[in-house]
Amino acid sequence: MYTDKVMEHFRNPRNMGEISDADGIGTVGNPVCGDMMTIYIKVKDNNITDIKFKTFGCGAAIATSSMVTELAKGKTLEEALKITRGDVADALEGLPPIKMHCSNLAADALHAAIEDYNKKRKAEKEVKT
Ligand code: FES
Repeated sequence: MYTDKVMEHFRNPRNMGEISDADGIGTVGNPVCGDMMTIYIKVKDNNITDIKFKTFGCGAAIATSSMVTELAKGKTLEEALKITRGDVADALEGLPPIKMHCSNLAADALHAAIEDYNKKRKAEKEVKT
């Protein structure tokens, strides 16, 4: 039911873990299946220099988390915000239709981490001015 690419990322997830001094953190959950995903980012000069994920979920959720971190690493924040659920599924050479919602979590968690970073940066600026 899964492509080789999905299985490979599931068995060998990239960038799994936590960043203790992350610049942005995004957590999303799917109320239907109960799966949860957190993405941590480090940002320098508007680029995502490091990214990690922690996922409590199905195999597809782990594979999509792993893939979204690979897609976003080294990208600018604007480029990373453009990564869609479809991009994640395409990069994994497809997901079974019943598992497409798992790729939503990955893109949504990435976007939430970037929004968190932007919010914190805005708050810092306001404190300084
Ligand atoms: Fe819920 Fe995959 S079954 S994220």
